[in-house]
Amino acid sequence: MTVVAIDGPAGAGKSTVARALARALGWLHLDTGAMYRAVALAALDSGVDAMDEVELAELARRLDIEATPDAVLVDGVDVSARIRSAEVTDTVARVAAHARVRSVLAARQQAVARAADVVMEGRDIGATVAPGAALKVYLTASLKARARRRALELGSGDAATVDAEAAALAARDRADSSRRASPLAAAPDAVVVDTTDLTVEDVVGRVLAELRARTDG
Ligand code: DC
Repeated sequence: MTVVAIDGPAGAGKSTVARALARALGWLHLDTGAMYRAVALAALDSGVDAMDEVELAELARRLDIEATPDAVLVDGVDVSARIRSAEVTDTVARVAAHARVRSVLAARQQAVARAADVVMEGRDIGATVAPGAALKVYLTASLKARARRRALELGSGDAATVDAEAAALAARDRADSSRRASPLAAAPDAVVVDTTDLTVEDVVGRVLAELRARTDG
């Protein structure tokens, strides 16, 4: 089936763009970050250490994770709100750094791509999970713009909140980019889109045009 890969750092607009794109195409949308968050939450709930690669991979293998457009269910329980908590956000980069955890989740993501046309967002989709994707997009934006968007999502655009978000995003970028297993990086054949000064509609229009150019004729 056909995959559009949307990768990039936190706050670049991946989820908003991927959701809008999936709606426009009538395809599935898979937020792979939600899957890593689900494993991090389960580890916190069951007292598994975020450094224990073997236990975490075992946990990931056991969990039934359903990342639907409306909700994220783990073993049938809706954890959509809990996976966005500060505690999970602080832990998830450590969980996602383990190669064994990544291979369990990447295999599931590849199974989804075999079954349906999908817009898949994450950090390593174009480079590792779906190297044959019809289109690979790498979304970026300035740290300031990403922090401002995150602060507004949290309901506060004041300078102190934006600064705190910028520091947190920079730390997460560092963790995601410097890990040995599938670090965050644009695939060599990705279309890089800087969303700092673009609207969601601009970005979606640009991606749809790129997809059409690759799949028509
Ligand atoms: O996109 P997000 O903030 O929900 O991602 C949560 C974490 O999971 C983040 O630290 C990056 C990591 N992640 C990853 O390593 N690979 C993916 N394909 C998706 C997310």
